Amino acid sequence: MTQTPFIRRRQNLAAQLGNGVAIVPTAPERVRNRDTHHPYRFDSYFWYLTGFPEPEAVLVVTGGDKPQSILFCRAKNEEREIWDGYRHGPAGAQDNFGVDAAFPIGELDQRLPELIADRSVLWHSLGHDEEWDSRITAALNTVRSQSRAGKRAPREIRDLRALIDGMRLVKDNSEIDTMRRAAAISAAGHARAMRHCRPGMAEYELEAELIHEFRRRGADGHAYTPIVAGGANACVLHYIENDRVLPDNALVLIDAGCELDGYAADITRTFPVNGRFSPAQRDCYEIVLAAQQAAIAAVRPGASFMAYHDAAVRVLAQGMIDLSLLNGSVDGVIESESYKRFYMHRTGHWLGLDVHDAGEYKEDGEGGEWVKLAPGMTLTVEPGLYIRPAADIPHELHGIGIRIEDDVVVTTSNCDVYTDAPKSITEIEEVMRRD
Ligand code: GLY
Ligand code: MN
Ligand code: MN
Repeated sequence: MTQTPFIRRRQNLAAQLGNGVAIVPTAPERVRNRDTHHPYRFDSYFWYLTGFPEPEAVLVVTGGDKPQSILFCRAKNEEREIWDGYRHGPAGAQDNFGVDAAFPIGELDQRLPELIADRSVLWHSLGHDEEWDSRITAALNTVRSQSRAGKRAPREIRDLRALIDGMRLVKDNSEIDTMRRAAAISAAGHARAMRHCRPGMAEYELEAELIHEFRRRGADGHAYTPIVAGGANACVLHYIENDRVLPDNALVLIDAGCELDGYAADITRTFPVNGRFSPAQRDCYEIVLAAQQAAIAAVRPGASFMAYHDAAVRVLAQGMIDLSLLNGSVDGVIESESYKRFYMHRTGHWLGLDVHDAGEYKEDGEGGEWVKLAPGMTLTVEPGLYIRPAADIPHELHGIGIRIEDDVVVTTSNCDVYTDAPKSITEIEEVMRRD
Protein backbone atom coordinates (compact mmCIF):
# COMPACT_ATOMS: atom_id res chain seq x y z
CA MET A 1 0.00 0.00 0.00
CA THR A 2 1.44 3.40 -0.95
CA GLN A 3 2.07 5.71 1.99
CA THR A 4 1.56 8.92 0.02
CA PRO A 5 -2.12 9.51 0.95
CA PHE A 6 -1.47 8.86 4.63
CA ILE A 7 1.53 11.23 4.69
CA ARG A 8 -0.54 13.87 2.90
CA ARG A 9 -3.38 13.52 5.42
CA ARG A 10 -0.99 13.86 8.37
CA GLN A 11 0.52 16.97 6.77
CA ASN A 12 -2.95 18.36 6.20
CA LEU A 13 -3.88 17.65 9.83
CA ALA A 14 -0.64 19.16 11.17
CA ALA A 15 -1.33 22.34 9.21
CA GLN A 16 -4.63 22.74 11.07
CA LEU A 17 -3.20 22.20 14.56
CA GLY A 18 -1.50 25.59 14.97
CA ASN A 19 1.17 25.08 17.62
CA GLY A 20 -0.92 22.20 18.97
CA VAL A 21 -0.43 18.48 19.37
CA ALA A 22 -2.89 15.71 18.41
CA ILE A 23 -3.09 12.28 20.02
CA VAL A 24 -4.74 9.51 18.03
CA PRO A 25 -4.87 6.02 19.55
CA THR A 26 -6.02 2.99 17.60
CA ALA A 27 -8.73 0.64 18.89
CA PRO A 28 -7.99 -1.92 21.62
CA GLU A 29 -8.35 -5.65 21.09
CA ARG A 30 -11.58 -6.92 22.64
CA VAL A 31 -12.08 -10.24 24.39
CA ARG A 32 -14.97 -12.22 22.94
CA ASN A 33 -15.00 -14.97 25.51
CA ARG A 34 -12.34 -16.28 27.90
CA ASP A 35 -9.10 -16.17 25.85
CA THR A 36 -10.62 -15.60 22.41
CA HIS A 37 -10.74 -12.14 20.84
CA HIS A 38 -13.10 -10.52 18.38
CA PRO A 39 -11.46 -10.19 14.98
CA TYR A 40 -9.31 -7.08 15.30
CA ARG A 41 -10.49 -3.87 13.66
CA PHE A 42 -8.32 -0.74 13.92
CA ASP A 43 -9.80 2.62 14.80
CA SER A 44 -10.97 4.43 11.65
CA TYR A 45 -9.42 7.80 12.57
CA PHE A 46 -6.07 6.19 13.34
CA TRP A 47 -6.19 4.17 10.12
CA TYR A 48 -7.10 7.24 8.08
CA LEU A 49 -3.87 8.88 9.22
CA THR A 50 -1.48 5.91 9.27
CA GLY A 51 -2.65 2.78 7.45
CA PHE A 52 -0.99 0.98 10.37
CA PRO A 53 -2.83 -2.28 11.10
CA GLU A 54 -1.56 -3.38 14.52
CA PRO A 55 -3.30 -2.90 17.87
CA GLU A 56 -1.55 -1.10 20.74
CA ALA A 57 -0.50 1.85 18.63
CA VAL A 58 -0.82 5.62 19.02
CA LEU A 59 -0.05 8.43 16.60
CA VAL A 60 1.08 11.80 17.89
CA VAL A 61 1.08 14.68 15.40
CA THR A 62 2.61 18.02 16.27
CA GLY A 63 1.92 21.25 14.40
CA GLY A 64 3.89 24.48 14.32
CA ASP A 65 7.04 25.28 12.37
CA LYS A 66 8.39 21.74 12.32
CA PRO A 67 5.41 19.41 12.12
CA GLN A 68 6.12 15.84 13.12
CA SER A 69 4.35 12.48 13.10
CA ILE A 70 5.41 10.11 15.84
CA LEU A 71 4.15 6.55 16.08
CA PHE A 72 4.14 4.43 19.22
CA CYS A 73 3.71 0.72 18.50
CA ARG A 74 4.45 -2.73 19.86
CA ALA A 75 8.11 -3.62 20.20
CA LYS A 76 9.43 -6.57 18.23
CA ASN A 77 9.02 -9.77 20.24
CA GLU A 78 10.18 -13.07 18.79
CA GLU A 79 8.18 -15.18 21.19
CA ARG A 80 4.90 -13.30 20.54
CA GLU A 81 5.55 -13.19 16.81
CA ILE A 82 5.87 -17.01 16.76
CA TRP A 83 2.39 -17.27 18.29
CA ASP A 84 0.52 -14.26 16.92
CA GLY A 85 2.35 -13.13 13.80
CA TYR A 86 4.56 -10.38 12.49
CA ARG A 87 5.04 -7.06 14.26
CA HIS A 88 6.58 -4.12 12.45
CA GLY A 89 8.25 -2.78 15.58
CA PRO A 90 9.26 0.90 15.82
CA ALA A 91 12.12 0.68 13.31
CA GLY A 92 9.98 -1.17 10.75
CA ALA A 93 7.09 1.22 11.31
CA GLN A 94 9.32 4.24 10.71
CA ASP A 95 10.67 2.72 7.50
CA ASN A 96 7.40 1.45 6.10
CA PHE A 97 4.80 3.98 7.24
CA GLY A 98 6.65 7.23 6.60
CA VAL A 99 6.45 8.62 10.15
CA ASP A 100 9.20 10.91 11.40
CA ALA A 101 9.91 8.84 14.52
CA ALA A 102 8.63 5.68 16.19
CA PHE A 103 8.94 4.35 19.73
CA PRO A 104 7.80 1.29 21.66
CA ILE A 105 4.29 1.71 23.06
CA GLY A 106 5.71 1.03 26.53
CA GLU A 107 7.43 4.43 26.39
CA LEU A 108 4.25 6.39 25.67
CA ASP A 109 3.34 7.50 29.19
CA GLN A 110 6.89 8.58 29.86
CA ARG A 111 7.23 10.53 26.58
CA LEU A 112 3.75 12.03 26.41
CA PRO A 113 4.38 14.90 28.90
CA GLU A 114 7.36 16.15 26.92
CA LEU A 115 5.40 15.87 23.65
CA ILE A 116 2.51 18.00 24.93
CA ALA A 117 4.57 20.48 27.00
CA ASP A 118 4.68 24.04 25.66
CA ARG A 119 1.97 23.31 23.10
CA SER A 120 -0.95 25.73 23.02
CA VAL A 121 -3.71 23.22 22.26
CA LEU A 122 -4.06 19.51 22.90
CA TRP A 123 -6.30 17.86 20.29
CA HIS A 124 -7.92 14.66 21.49
CA SER A 125 -11.17 12.71 21.07
CA LEU A 126 -12.32 13.70 24.52
CA GLY A 127 -15.15 11.61 25.92
CA HIS A 128 -14.86 8.63 23.58
CA ASP A 129 -12.76 6.42 25.83
CA GLU A 130 -12.51 6.96 29.59
CA GLU A 131 -9.17 5.22 29.82
CA TRP A 132 -7.68 7.58 27.27
CA ASP A 133 -9.24 10.60 28.93
CA SER A 134 -7.49 9.57 32.19
CA ARG A 135 -4.21 8.95 30.43
CA ILE A 136 -4.28 12.38 28.84
CA THR A 137 -5.27 13.98 32.14
CA ALA A 138 -2.32 12.26 33.82
CA ALA A 139 0.06 13.59 31.15
CA LEU A 140 -1.38 17.11 31.55
CA ASN A 141 -0.94 16.92 35.33
CA THR A 142 2.64 15.78 34.94
CA VAL A 143 3.40 18.85 32.82
CA ARG A 144 1.50 21.12 35.24
CA SER A 145 3.65 19.80 38.07
CA GLN A 146 6.72 20.94 36.13
CA SER A 147 5.62 24.57 35.87
CA ARG A 148 8.41 25.81 38.17
CA ALA A 149 10.85 24.12 35.78
CA GLY A 150 9.43 26.36 33.07
CA LYS A 151 7.06 23.87 31.39
CA ARG A 152 3.61 24.97 30.28
CA ALA A 153 0.73 22.57 29.85
CA PRO A 154 -1.69 23.17 26.96
CA ARG A 155 -4.44 25.58 28.05
CA GLU A 156 -6.99 24.27 25.65
CA ILE A 157 -8.25 20.78 24.87
CA ARG A 158 -10.11 20.58 21.59
CA ASP A 159 -12.13 17.89 19.83
CA LEU A 160 -9.81 16.16 17.39
CA ARG A 161 -12.59 14.16 15.78
CA ALA A 162 -14.34 17.31 14.62
CA LEU A 163 -11.17 18.28 12.77
CA ILE A 164 -10.64 14.89 11.14
CA ASP A 165 -14.36 14.47 10.41
CA GLY A 166 -14.13 17.49 8.15
CA MET A 167 -11.25 15.85 6.29
CA ARG A 168 -12.92 12.45 6.08
CA LEU A 169 -16.13 13.89 4.66
CA VAL A 170 -14.48 14.63 1.31
CA LYS A 171 -12.71 11.55 0.01
CA ASP A 172 -9.40 11.68 -1.80
CA ASN A 173 -8.69 9.68 -4.95
CA SER A 174 -7.13 6.74 -3.13
CA GLU A 175 -10.20 6.42 -0.90
CA ILE A 176 -12.58 6.59 -3.85
CA ASP A 177 -10.55 3.96 -5.65
CA THR A 178 -10.74 1.61 -2.65
CA MET A 179 -14.46 2.26 -2.25
CA ARG A 180 -15.08 1.45 -5.90
CA ARG A 181 -13.25 -1.86 -5.46
CA ALA A 182 -15.23 -2.64 -2.29
CA ALA A 183 -18.40 -1.84 -4.24
CA ALA A 184 -17.48 -4.15 -7.12
CA ILE A 185 -16.89 -7.06 -4.75
CA SER A 186 -20.11 -6.34 -2.88
CA ALA A 187 -22.12 -6.12 -6.08
CA ALA A 188 -20.72 -9.49 -7.14
CA GLY A 189 -21.90 -10.88 -3.78
CA HIS A 190 -25.42 -9.64 -4.39
CA ALA A 191 -25.49 -11.07 -7.91
CA ARG A 192 -24.28 -14.40 -6.55
CA ALA A 193 -27.03 -14.43 -3.92
CA MET A 194 -29.60 -13.82 -6.67
CA ARG A 195 -28.20 -16.64 -8.79
CA HIS A 196 -28.23 -19.13 -5.90
CA CYS A 197 -31.57 -18.23 -4.36
CA ARG A 198 -34.27 -20.95 -4.32
CA PRO A 199 -37.56 -21.24 -2.45
CA GLY A 200 -37.08 -23.32 0.70
CA MET A 201 -33.52 -22.21 1.32
CA ALA A 202 -32.74 -20.57 4.63
CA GLU A 203 -31.78 -16.91 4.81
CA TYR A 204 -28.37 -17.91 6.18
CA GLU A 205 -27.65 -19.87 3.02
CA LEU A 206 -27.78 -16.62 1.07
CA GLU A 207 -25.64 -14.99 3.76
CA ALA A 208 -23.10 -17.76 3.09
CA GLU A 209 -23.09 -16.91 -0.64
CA LEU A 210 -22.30 -13.29 0.20
CA ILE A 211 -19.33 -14.05 2.42
CA HIS A 212 -18.11 -16.63 -0.08
CA GLU A 213 -17.92 -13.99 -2.78
CA PHE A 214 -16.49 -11.32 -0.48
CA ARG A 215 -13.65 -13.50 0.78
CA ARG A 216 -12.79 -15.15 -2.52
CA ARG A 217 -12.31 -11.69 -4.00
CA GLY A 218 -10.04 -10.56 -1.17
CA ALA A 219 -12.33 -8.42 0.98
CA ASP A 220 -11.77 -8.51 4.73
CA GLY A 221 -15.34 -9.62 5.40
CA HIS A 222 -18.60 -7.82 6.05
CA ALA A 223 -18.48 -4.08 6.69
CA TYR A 224 -21.52 -4.52 8.99
CA THR A 225 -23.81 -7.34 10.04
CA PRO A 226 -25.69 -8.31 6.89
CA ILE A 227 -29.46 -8.34 6.68
CA VAL A 228 -30.99 -11.25 4.75
CA ALA A 229 -34.70 -10.84 5.29
CA GLY A 230 -37.30 -13.02 3.58
CA GLY A 231 -40.91 -11.85 3.27
CA ALA A 232 -42.19 -9.70 6.14
CA ASN A 233 -38.81 -9.89 7.91
CA ALA A 234 -37.82 -7.14 5.49
CA CYS A 235 -40.18 -4.82 7.38
CA VAL A 236 -37.93 -5.14 10.45
CA LEU A 237 -35.33 -2.55 9.56
CA HIS A 238 -32.46 -4.04 11.54
CA TYR A 239 -33.34 -7.72 11.06
CA ILE A 240 -30.11 -9.72 11.44
CA GLU A 241 -31.24 -13.15 12.64
CA ASN A 242 -31.12 -14.45 9.07
CA ASP A 243 -32.39 -17.86 10.23
CA ARG A 244 -35.78 -18.28 8.55
CA VAL A 245 -36.79 -20.28 5.49
CA LEU A 246 -37.32 -18.24 2.33
CA PRO A 247 -40.91 -18.76 1.22
CA ASP A 248 -41.88 -19.20 -2.42
CA ASN A 249 -43.75 -16.12 -3.74
CA ALA A 250 -42.03 -13.81 -1.24
CA LEU A 251 -39.37 -11.16 -1.75
CA VAL A 252 -36.03 -11.28 0.01
CA LEU A 253 -34.19 -8.12 1.02
CA ILE A 254 -30.40 -8.27 1.35
CA ASP A 255 -28.49 -5.35 2.84
CA ALA A 256 -24.82 -6.27 2.77
CA GLY A 257 -21.46 -4.83 1.83
CA CYS A 258 -17.88 -5.85 2.28
CA GLU A 259 -15.01 -4.05 3.94
CA LEU A 260 -11.86 -3.66 1.88
CA ASP A 261 -8.71 -2.02 3.26
CA GLY A 262 -10.92 -0.47 5.92
CA TYR A 263 -13.56 0.95 3.56
CA ALA A 264 -17.21 -0.08 3.44
CA ALA A 265 -19.66 -0.69 0.65
CA ASP A 266 -23.34 -0.60 1.56
CA ILE A 267 -25.74 -2.16 -0.95
CA THR A 268 -29.33 -3.33 -0.65
CA ARG A 269 -31.17 -5.37 -3.23
CA THR A 270 -34.64 -6.85 -3.00
CA PHE A 271 -35.69 -9.66 -5.32
CA PRO A 272 -38.28 -12.44 -5.60
CA VAL A 273 -37.24 -15.72 -3.98
CA ASN A 274 -38.53 -17.67 -6.97
CA GLY A 275 -37.06 -15.31 -9.55
CA ARG A 276 -40.33 -13.75 -10.79
CA PHE A 277 -41.97 -10.61 -9.37
CA SER A 278 -45.72 -10.91 -8.71
CA PRO A 279 -47.86 -8.00 -9.99
CA ALA A 280 -48.14 -6.49 -6.48
CA GLN A 281 -44.40 -6.89 -5.85
CA ARG A 282 -43.70 -5.35 -9.23
CA ASP A 283 -45.88 -2.30 -8.49
CA CYS A 284 -44.15 -1.71 -5.16
CA TYR A 285 -40.69 -2.29 -6.59
CA GLU A 286 -41.20 0.18 -9.43
CA ILE A 287 -42.22 2.85 -6.90
CA VAL A 288 -39.06 2.38 -4.82
CA LEU A 289 -36.92 2.31 -7.94
CA ALA A 290 -38.49 5.55 -9.19
CA ALA A 291 -37.92 7.09 -5.75
CA GLN A 292 -34.29 6.09 -5.91
CA GLN A 293 -33.90 7.53 -9.42
CA ALA A 294 -35.44 10.82 -8.28
CA ALA A 295 -33.13 10.87 -5.25
CA ILE A 296 -30.03 10.16 -7.33
CA ALA A 297 -30.97 13.01 -9.67
CA ALA A 298 -30.98 15.33 -6.64
CA VAL A 299 -27.42 14.46 -5.59
CA ARG A 300 -25.17 17.13 -7.03
CA PRO A 301 -22.67 19.69 -5.80
CA GLY A 302 -24.29 22.60 -4.03
CA ALA A 303 -27.50 20.69 -3.23
CA SER A 304 -28.48 20.40 0.42
CA PHE A 305 -27.94 16.99 2.03
CA MET A 306 -31.70 16.93 2.65
CA ALA A 307 -32.74 17.51 -0.97
CA TYR A 308 -32.38 13.91 -2.09
CA HIS A 309 -34.38 12.62 0.86
CA ASP A 310 -37.16 15.07 0.00
CA ALA A 311 -37.07 13.93 -3.62
CA ALA A 312 -37.43 10.27 -2.60
CA VAL A 313 -40.24 11.01 -0.14
CA ARG A 314 -42.26 12.83 -2.82
CA VAL A 315 -42.18 9.82 -5.18
CA LEU A 316 -42.85 7.36 -2.37
CA ALA A 317 -45.79 9.42 -1.10
CA GLN A 318 -47.36 9.39 -4.57
CA GLY A 319 -46.75 5.66 -4.74
CA MET A 320 -48.44 5.04 -1.39
CA ILE A 321 -51.49 6.92 -2.63
CA ASP A 322 -51.49 4.95 -5.90
CA LEU A 323 -51.34 1.69 -3.92
CA SER A 324 -54.30 2.85 -1.77
CA LEU A 325 -52.13 2.68 1.32
CA LEU A 326 -52.86 6.35 1.98
CA ASN A 327 -55.50 8.87 0.97
CA GLY A 328 -55.17 12.50 0.04
CA SER A 329 -52.67 14.56 -1.87
CA VAL A 330 -48.90 14.16 -2.01
CA ASP A 331 -48.46 17.49 -0.24
CA GLY A 332 -50.98 16.44 2.42
CA VAL A 333 -49.26 13.09 2.98
CA ILE A 334 -45.88 14.84 3.30
CA GLU A 335 -47.28 17.59 5.53
CA SER A 336 -48.96 15.13 7.91
CA GLU A 337 -45.98 12.74 7.72
CA SER A 338 -48.44 9.85 7.30
CA TYR A 339 -45.95 8.36 4.81
CA LYS A 340 -43.71 7.53 7.77
CA ARG A 341 -45.88 4.49 8.50
CA PHE A 342 -44.36 2.91 5.37
CA TYR A 343 -41.08 4.82 5.04
CA MET A 344 -39.56 5.71 8.38
CA HIS A 345 -35.84 6.16 7.74
CA ARG A 346 -33.67 8.70 5.99
CA THR A 347 -32.68 8.18 2.37
CA GLY A 348 -28.97 7.86 3.08
CA HIS A 349 -25.84 8.69 5.01
CA TRP A 350 -22.15 9.37 4.51
CA LEU A 351 -20.14 6.27 3.63
CA GLY A 352 -16.43 5.58 4.02
CA LEU A 353 -14.27 3.87 6.60
CA ASP A 354 -17.40 3.53 8.71
CA VAL A 355 -20.61 2.39 7.11
CA HIS A 356 -22.31 5.36 8.77
CA ASP A 357 -19.28 7.50 8.14
CA ALA A 358 -17.78 10.45 9.93
CA GLY A 359 -18.92 13.95 9.06
CA GLU A 360 -21.58 16.35 10.23
CA TYR A 361 -24.94 16.61 8.48
CA LYS A 362 -25.64 20.17 9.63
CA GLU A 363 -23.41 23.20 9.36
CA ASP A 364 -22.03 24.81 12.53
CA GLY A 365 -24.18 27.16 14.53
CA GLU A 366 -27.60 27.28 16.07
CA GLY A 367 -30.26 26.03 13.68
CA GLY A 368 -27.53 25.35 11.11
CA GLU A 369 -28.42 24.48 7.54
CA TRP A 370 -28.03 20.98 6.15
CA VAL A 371 -24.56 20.44 4.75
CA LYS A 372 -24.22 21.23 1.06
CA LEU A 373 -22.92 18.40 -1.10
CA ALA A 374 -19.48 18.82 -2.66
CA PRO A 375 -17.35 16.80 -5.10
CA GLY A 376 -15.67 13.83 -3.40
CA MET A 377 -18.38 13.22 -0.82
CA THR A 378 -19.61 9.63 -0.81
CA LEU A 379 -23.07 8.69 0.35
CA THR A 380 -25.77 6.06 0.07
CA VAL A 381 -29.12 6.45 -1.68
CA GLU A 382 -31.51 3.97 -0.10
CA PRO A 383 -35.24 4.62 -0.24
CA GLY A 384 -37.59 1.86 0.86
CA LEU A 385 -41.20 0.84 1.33
CA TYR A 386 -42.21 -1.35 4.27
CA ILE A 387 -45.79 -2.62 4.45
CA ARG A 388 -46.40 -4.47 7.68
CA PRO A 389 -49.50 -6.69 7.61
CA ALA A 390 -52.55 -4.90 9.05
CA ALA A 391 -56.32 -5.04 8.71
CA ASP A 392 -56.54 -1.81 6.70
CA ILE A 393 -53.91 -2.85 4.11
CA PRO A 394 -54.83 -4.66 0.86
CA HIS A 395 -53.96 -8.32 1.41
CA GLU A 396 -51.65 -8.72 -1.58
CA LEU A 397 -49.37 -6.01 -0.13
CA HIS A 398 -49.00 -7.62 3.29
CA GLY A 399 -45.39 -8.09 4.34
CA ILE A 400 -43.82 -6.49 1.29
CA GLY A 401 -40.59 -4.82 2.35
CA ILE A 402 -38.35 -3.28 -0.30
CA ARG A 403 -35.20 -1.21 -0.12
CA ILE A 404 -32.86 -0.37 -2.98
CA GLU A 405 -29.52 1.01 -1.88
CA ASP A 406 -26.60 2.23 -3.95
CA ASP A 407 -23.45 4.17 -3.18
CA VAL A 408 -22.63 7.37 -5.00
CA VAL A 409 -19.79 9.85 -5.17
CA VAL A 410 -20.56 13.49 -5.80
CA THR A 411 -18.77 14.71 -8.94
CA THR A 412 -18.20 18.24 -10.22
CA SER A 413 -21.53 18.17 -12.09
CA ASN A 414 -23.81 15.56 -10.45
CA CYS A 415 -22.99 12.15 -8.97
CA ASP A 416 -21.63 8.80 -10.04
CA VAL A 417 -23.45 5.66 -8.90
CA TYR A 418 -20.57 3.25 -8.43
CA THR A 419 -22.42 0.18 -7.13
CA ASP A 420 -23.48 -1.98 -10.02
CA ALA A 421 -25.59 -4.94 -8.89
CA PRO A 422 -28.66 -6.08 -10.90
CA LYS A 423 -31.42 -3.62 -10.14
CA SER A 424 -34.18 -3.24 -12.71
CA ILE A 425 -36.90 -5.88 -12.73
CA THR A 426 -35.70 -7.06 -16.14
CA GLU A 427 -32.09 -7.36 -14.96
CA ILE A 428 -32.99 -9.21 -11.78
CA GLU A 429 -35.33 -11.67 -13.53
CA GLU A 430 -32.65 -12.28 -16.15
CA VAL A 431 -29.95 -13.03 -13.56
CA MET A 432 -32.35 -15.35 -11.74
CA ARG A 433 -33.60 -17.26 -14.79
CA ARG A 434 -33.66 -20.95 -14.03
CA ASP A 435 -33.82 -22.46 -17.53
N1 GLY B 1 -26.52 -1.12 6.16
C1 GLY B 1 -26.76 -0.03 6.99
C2 GLY B 1 -27.48 1.02 6.29
O1 GLY B 1 -27.95 0.81 5.20
O2 GLY B 1 -27.55 2.13 6.75
MN1 MN C 1 -26.97 2.45 4.24
MN1 MN D 1 -27.37 -0.79 3.94
